[in-house]
Amino acid sequence: KDPRIHGIQTKIRVVPDFPKQGIMFQDITTLLLDPKAFKDTIDLFVERYKGKNISVVAGIEARGFIFGPPIALAIGAKFVPLRKPKKLPGKVISEEYILEYGRDCLEMHVGAVEAGERALVVDDLIATGGTLCAAMNLLERVGAEVVECACVIELPDLKGRERLNGKPLYVLVESH
Ligand code: PRP
Ligand code: MG
Repeated sequence: KDPRIHGIQTKIRVVPDFPKQGIMFQDITTLLLDPKAFKDTIDLFVERYKGKNISVVAGIEARGFIFGPPIALAIGAKFVPLRKPKKLPGKVISEEYILEYGRDCLEMHVGAVEAGERALVVDDLIATGGTLCAAMNLLERVGAEVVECACVIELPDLKGRERLNGKPLYVLVESH
């Protein structure tokens, strides 16, 4: 395991009972406060994906917008935001997904990604996997190939990985 990962893990603050009772919130804002740990995080992803012919990095609103763009710039890919409903002004395609309470939706601009493109999906965290699943569906609906999903943190107890239909998932840190 890369020696930089421990430093990254120590900078993620775990906040009990936020935003509600029983949730151990994984706070990446403390990671962002440490330029070395933040850079190590981006570098680890860049080292994995550079030279892999990835043409598009798709980042999931909101926290995927923090990690996705620096990775895209460093590997020479475009960045495409996958946004919550009614935020994008152009024509969109939408994917609904189930949350613990209720449902949410991600949207992508039509024309942002073309058939045959090689995509990397980036978010801060995988919990149940519903969000990443919806993101992958958007990309696959326009004919892109999702090469991998990349997250800083995985909550393996929630078994989100099993919902990804065998798609590779790369994470830096597991939190139990
Ligand atoms: C959190 C997190 C992931 C998602 C993971 O985002 O940033 O995007 O939940 O959950 P899942 O694997 O169970 O789908 P959230 O929807 O809270 O919104 P935010 O990133 O805008 O804060
Ligand atoms: Mg999120």
